[in-house]
Amino acid sequence: MSDDRIVAPDELDEERASDVALRPRRLDEFVGQASVQEQVRILVEAARRRGEPLDHVLLYGPPGLGKTTLAQIIANEMGVNARLTSGPALEHQGMLASILTSLDDRDVFFIDEVHRLNRAVEEALYPAMEDLAFDFVAGKGAGAQTLRLSLNRFTVIGATTRAGALGGPLRDRFGVTFRLDFYDTEELERIIHRSASLLHVDIDEPGAALIARRSRGTPRIANRLLRRARDYAQVRASGHIDAEVAAAALRVLGVDELGLDELDRRVLDVLCSTLSGHPVGVQTIAVSVQEDPDTIEDVVEPFLIRTGLLARTPRGRLATAAAYAHLGRAAPAGAPGADASQTAMFN
Ligand SMILES: Nc1ncnc2c1ncn2[C@@H]1O[C@H](COP(=O)(O)OP(=O)(O)OP(=O)(O)O)[C@@H](O)[C@H]1O
Ligand SMILES: [Mg+2]
Repeated sequence: MSDDRIVAPDELDEERASDVALRPRRLDEFVGQASVQEQVRILVEAARRRGEPLDHVLLYGPPGLGKTTLAQIIANEMGVNARLTSGPALEHQGMLASILTSLDDRDVFFIDEVHRLNRAVEEALYPAMEDLAFDFVAGKGAGAQTLRLSLNRFTVIGATTRAGALGGPLRDRFGVTFRLDFYDTEELERIIHRSASLLHVDIDEPGAALIARRSRGTPRIANRLLRRARDYAQVRASGHIDAEVAAAALRVLGVDELGLDELDRRVLDVLCSTLSGHPVGVQTIAVSVQEDPDTIEDVVEPFLIRTGLLARTPRGRLATAAAYAHLGRAAPAGAPGADASQTAMFN
């Protein structure tokens, strides 16, 4: 899925084009995720030396952290082709068969949103991943026959925003699982400088640092904010992005000091106002802010949790004391983190 917040529909094409243009192609250009990078390097090198395909890889993490990018890098580093598709696009087994039979030895078959594969396709994928076999049923009724096609060796790279939504049988067929995590400010600064040089944008260190701090730990958002700051700089300033220009551009976009946007703040507002202090379910939050529950769970929550503004409890979501502080409100007694902040005050 792609998080299209603070993006007008007509900007989506620009976003997609820019995603492609700015996408690192080799592991050396991929910033951050040090442990994942190191593991990929070893896996690829070992598979290459043995002349084997890479083990099936599952990538998971919030949108915009580099799952598609990493899948393509793996194919490039392996020196093979990558076929790209997504769970919902693979409507029936025939489509799966036609892709699988077209793969060359050791090719990468990338399935985005792999948790959204339909049952029949998912089940046809099992023998393909395990035994390099595709079972075709020819004919109908009593005379039906199963034909087994054998496939070239290949690697499935599956991507998902939530590993939890994947059925056990499918999850077990991936030999390697990598979780991509939010990037720190220094990594995002490097990504911004790299993108700025590719886009011929003039930005200084403080400008890049400011955008990095407000990018929700997400490279795609860092690149998006950089493009918006460039627009602002061209129209309202001399074209140069410094901290002041960057801050002004982000103010126009409604991105605050923590990097929260309109939707993030509306979600916190629901938790802090009407239902103050009571756990709230995702469905209720979604209805209150008029968004899709999946967007709340996959896009909004992970970052709010990571920033310590939202807590997940068995009975629902709660705003933490830090969230009340961020919205400039008094936290109720039971808010998570309230005690900690009081202790901090007294120490
Ligand atoms: N580690 C990285 N280094 C540099 N740029 C990155 C990195 N990760 C992501 N990017 C940039 O962010 C953009 C978004 O990354 P990508 O499309 O791979 O995210 P994704 O995890 O597949 O998101 P989604 O879940 O929405 O499909 C890329 O086009 C690339 O420009
Ligand atoms: Mg992707």
